[in-house]
Amino acid sequence: MAHATVQGAPMTRPCPRPSAPLIVFLVLLASCYLALTRLPAAAPLATLIAPSAGHGSGHGAVDSCAGFYRGAGAAGRRAVTASVEEFGAVGDGVTSNTAAFRRAVAALEERGAGGGARLEVPAGRWLTGSFNLTSRFTLFLHHGAVILGSQDPEEWPLIAPLPSYGRGRERLGPRHISLIHGQDLNDVVITGSNGTIDGQGRMWWELWWNRTLNHTRGHLIELMNSTNVLISNVTLRNSPFWTVHPVYCRNVVIKDLTILAPLNAPNTDGIDPGLCT
Ligand SMILES: *[C@@H]1O[C@H](CO)[C@@H](O)[C@H](O)[C@H]1NC(C)=O
Ligand SMILES: *[C@@H]1O[C@H](CO)[C@@H](O)[C@H](O)[C@H]1NC(C)=O
Ligand SMILES: *[C@@H]1O[C@H](CO)[C@@H](O)[C@H](O)[C@H]1NC(C)=O
Ligand SMILES: *[C@@H]1O[C@H](CO)[C@@H](O)[C@H](O)[C@H]1NC(C)=O
Ligand SMILES: *[C@@H]1O[C@H](CO)[C@@H](O)[C@H](O)[C@H]1NC(C)=O
Ligand SMILES: *[C@@H]1O[C@H](CO)[C@@H](O)[C@H](O)[C@H]1NC(C)=O
Repeated sequence: MAHATVQGAPMTRPCPRPSAPLIVFLVLLASCYLALTRLPAAAPLATLIAPSAGHGSGHGAVDSCAGFYRGAGAAGRRAVTASVEEFGAVGDGVTSNTAAFRRAVAALEERGAGGGARLEVPAGRWLTGSFNLTSRFTLFLHHGAVILGSQDPEEWPLIAPLPSYGRGRERLGPRHISLIHGQDLNDVVITGSNGTIDGQGRMWWELWWNRTLNHTRGHLIELMNSTNVLISNVTLRNSPFWTVHPVYCRNVVIKDLTILAPLNAPNTDGIDPGLCT
């Protein structure tokens, strides 16, 4: 899945999947772009999806499906800003910061009511289990910031399978939640100055390889039933399973990402949009 907005992402998979989601995604991007710019429908698709081919970032309509993306969200400006350190997080790569991230999101949801909030992750190695995002919210990863996925499966709790699958994709029943998860949200931004979210997925790949996986693996980032989602300017690595999974969402822009995983890592697809409009 060599997507033009994703640089340097090794997308080779041992188990190829149909490319229908990618096509849907490209059509979605194209229709957003055309709706905005009122270009003739004959505009070459390559120019719509290749910001590195001459389009500036953050200025042109190509970056946007709505004024939203040129507003507070895209620039990461919010009424309230706080660092995850203020909530007790320790960036030593060892301390579990699950509770700190959850506290931070809950506190900022309240403090930012109305104007929204931005949670900053400074340089450091921030180990965490899964946490949820909220609406009118920016997660901002500074240069040198690395969010590390917990190696304890219980830090990736089980959630219901997607209604459209009716079961976990790899195993029956519930599935592990994604590391960074959001549901029923509006105006969610994950961005930064190329900080990293590293799922440390090897543990999950080994469970898959040695057939001891009990429940479907979690994604690195999943947004469900959400509107106005922007994911940009971060590096995503070593997802346990698919890396970015927007599903049942509206108005999603994903750009300027680096997505990395070893070539043999099973099912670490880059971007798998599902049932989005
Ligand atoms: C995160 O969201 C999921 C799905 O909405 C929910 O099942 C889970 O309890 C939430 N987790 C936390 C820590 O709030
Ligand atoms: C999707 O989210 C909206 C709120 O944003 C909520 O009203 C609606 O019930 C949700 N739909 C489903 C199927 O959960
Ligand atoms: C995001 O990445 C693009 C492409 O590398 C770059 O032009 C832009 O300045 C970056 N934005 C930020 C806020 O770092
Ligand atoms: C972001 O970081 C990744 C990993 O270090 C690197 O491969 C990529 O080139 C960087 N992107 C930018 C725009 O600097
Ligand atoms: C399977 O892989 C997991 C994760 O690395 C490991 O903990 C477990 O011992 C392995 N089980 C077998 C039967 O190899
Ligand atoms: C899978 O289930 C077995 C049996 O209940 C349990 O011993 C094992 O710890 C579970 N593995 C994971 C990764 O949760």
